[in-house]
Amino acid sequence: MKKEYIKPSIAQARKRSLQASNIIQYEIEPTYQSLGTGKNYLVITHGCQANVRDSETVAGLLESVGFTSVSEIEDADIIIINTCAIRSGAEDKVYGQIGALKKYKKAKPELIIGLCGCMAQEEKTIENIINKYPWVEIVFGTHNITSLPKLINDVMQKQQRMIEVYSKEGDVVENVPVARFMNHKAWVNIMYGCDKFCTYCIVPYTRGKQRSRLLSDVVQEVKELVEQGYKEVCLLGQNVNAYGKDLSDGSNFADLLNAVAATGIPRIRFVTSHPWDFTEEMILAMKNNPNICPYLHLPVQSGSNDVLKRMNRHYDIETYKALVDKIKEHLPHYAITTDIIVGFPNETDEDFEKTLEIVDYVQYDNAFTFIFSPREGTPAAMMEDKTPLSIKEERLQRLNKKVAEYANAKNQPFLNRTVEVLVDGLSKKNDQIYSGYTIENKLVNFKAKDVQIGDLVKVKITEVLSFSLNGEMVE
Ligand code: 5AD
Ligand code: SF4
Repeated sequence: MKKEYIKPSIAQARKRSLQASNIIQYEIEPTYQSLGTGKNYLVITHGCQANVRDSETVAGLLESVGFTSVSEIEDADIIIINTCAIRSGAEDKVYGQIGALKKYKKAKPELIIGLCGCMAQEEKTIENIINKYPWVEIVFGTHNITSLPKLINDVMQKQQRMIEVYSKEGDVVENVPVARFMNHKAWVNIMYGCDKFCTYCIVPYTRGKQRSRLLSDVVQEVKELVEQGYKEVCLLGQNVNAYGKDLSDGSNFADLLNAVAATGIPRIRFVTSHPWDFTEEMILAMKNNPNICPYLHLPVQSGSNDVLKRMNRHYDIETYKALVDKIKEHLPHYAITTDIIVGFPNETDEDFEKTLEIVDYVQYDNAFTFIFSPREGTPAAMMEDKTPLSIKEERLQRLNKKVAEYANAKNQPFLNRTVEVLVDGLSKKNDQIYSGYTIENKLVNFKAKDVQIGDLVKVKITEVLSFSLNGEMVE
């Protein structure tokens, strides 16, 4: 065990510096280039799109030093688990998975097991791994991904565990190898971290302060994707509308949308939009560029002003409604989805009724709903909470029922309509059923022959369900 490892600290993370981020160009260390020759790797990903994109970087780094991708644990010489810390359920899953890997390490002692991602940024995870999971030999944080070849080298050479996690916010590292998991849709980071500090959320601690990439670097990446034949990009940030606030050149998210749209990529999506900082300029960019998909994810979290205030969301429900009204006025064809937390500490029945009311008001195409999960070190985890779990579960069920009703109603107009679908894959059960998404982000399962992943096809919708559409490809 390396004695003096760098470990994360939430107290440290709270002391945000206001300096602009450094932009660093990644270069591979020549001595590591053949570390993985003849060896195989497996990356297991938990959590959100930011983690999927990070796993593509982990895969890219591993391939750059000679490792080959495999899909079975038995075939791997190195396994990296990219973890999520957003709710306790996500963490429990990871611990279960690490536990299950013990026997593989026993059977093959040279197997290297590594853990990275948001859980690695938590002090308690580091303590747990050190004390209870000795078969995990590498831990690296969200700011240390590019250290992976060095960490592998050290484990191999020195036969000791390597833990490298910073609580200081990271830099913006460009030119890092990437092995994308898909050839037709790409995740593109436009910024890292989050400065919003919603009181329930661990992300500002696990992913550090907001750091935007330069507009020119994002556009260059999208241009390269267009050249490689990609049909869709999804621009990623915890708060895309705050893009550029930390840059000195004055560029903002509307500028970025216009510039990415000008590359001609057929489909552009972006997540996540915060209701705060949502400008008219952004609405105009969405209106003026037909390749921006008519789909907006706009988390509301709660319908109660008291809860929103205690969540530190920086808007009240009247402002949120006015924003939705404006979006619907300018962009009537847009599908809108949201995130909602039920059972925030001491959420009352009246508070919860207000959440149901906002769902009635907006009539979302879909909503991702969660029971509040206290995250150690966040302000909400320290708030008194007398509401029993059984009441929270009841509320979640009532909410989900309402969400499903609107989701179904919102899908009804698609019946008999012919829509464009970007083909994602073939059904595992039936070799004539393909799946893909419409521009509104509706999942479509459809009958077709001789189509390829990445084709844009026309599908006539023949059946409407609450969370998907069924159809047949039309020639
Ligand atoms: N408990 C429950 N849900 C949470 N989310 C974030 N933090 C928590 C938490 N502590 C939800 C929010 C966010 C989504 C990604 O996860 O709704 O928008
Ligand atoms: Fe978490 Fe709030 Fe930042 Fe979203 S905006 S990542 S919910 S702190």
